[in-house]
Amino acid sequence: MVRKRILSGMRPTGNIHLGNLHGALMNWKELQEEYDCFFFVADWHAMTSDYDATDHIKDHIRGMVIDWLSVGLSPERSTIFVQSHIKEHAELFLILSMITPLAWLERNPTYKEQIAQLKNKDLSTFGFLGYPVLQAADIIMYKAHGVPVGVDQAPHVELTREIARRFNHFYGPIFPIPQTILTPTPRLLGIDGRKMSKSYNNAIYISETPDQIRAKVSQMVTDTKRARRSDPGEPNDCNVYSFHNLYTDKEAISRIEQECRKAEIGCVDCKELLAENLTRYLAPIYDKQNYYKNHPNLVTEIILEGCEKARSVAQHTMEEVRAAIKI
Ligand code: TRP
Ligand code: SF4
Repeated sequence: MVRKRILSGMRPTGNIHLGNLHGALMNWKELQEEYDCFFFVADWHAMTSDYDATDHIKDHIRGMVIDWLSVGLSPERSTIFVQSHIKEHAELFLILSMITPLAWLERNPTYKEQIAQLKNKDLSTFGFLGYPVLQAADIIMYKAHGVPVGVDQAPHVELTREIARRFNHFYGPIFPIPQTILTPTPRLLGIDGRKMSKSYNNAIYISETPDQIRAKVSQMVTDTKRARRSDPGEPNDCNVYSFHNLYTDKEAISRIEQECRKAEIGCVDCKELLAENLTRYLAPIYDKQNYYKNHPNLVTEIILEGCEKARSVAQHTMEEVRAAIKI
């Protein structure tokens, strides 16, 4: 039986944190059991905002692939590759840019939001406006049926659908229209209580040592109404408790819940327990990271093989595209 194809990508902005792990990677890992998955590192996309600081992108690509492998993405089941190694993406991006109306890009909510938020960066570039066109090329190149993304990326998949329809309308039915597979965003916040994000400096990374994890967990904001040890707390207003829900066994969770409400457990002990459980959860991932870091040739090999598989699909698609546009 032919498995349906799923494709998704991530920008190589640094290490994987717990938000990425539960928001995307665990979902990818599950999808690979059932679908023909293509997962890639979107390094050209990283350049749209970091065009003035590209020094670390290469290291981040390898680091990211190591993190993916360590959480269980399988190079046997899935095709793992790097966007910039498949030059066909650039060709399809160029062709799609010819048919994409500017108005579609200018009204993209992610674009408007980013321009407003990242005030210290000059994002008034052609490439940044065209970000979703490159993403559309990534997706339809492999004729993906489904694209797992978080809500913030959903408008880009929507644009991809419109661009694919427009291509098919002009040149014939080459591309299937991909579905958005919405990944529920995890309730995990950063240690300061804001959204977990590398740029907020509040993330816990899957590469951190037990000591680093304990230090970060001890800084976590708890139920802010619980000022003193003798005050009762409300677990549902506490980020530490949300974490327990992922890493702690059910019995201990219900004990924490009751004891927190009666001020029988203190936040220090509660965090100590979390740090222990999180460390235990991450231990096998951590071991695999070390394994891959100590076997750099293996990682190179995996990336090369994935790129080869991706490239042969991309070359085939581009032959169809060139025939369709008659150029
Ligand atoms: N824009 C995505 C992000 O920032 C990354 C990405 C690039 C992507 N191309 C893609 C995701 C294609 C899904 C499909 O997260
Ligand atoms: Fe949060 Fe635990 Fe403190 Fe309760 S005891 S407020 S759940 S850290």
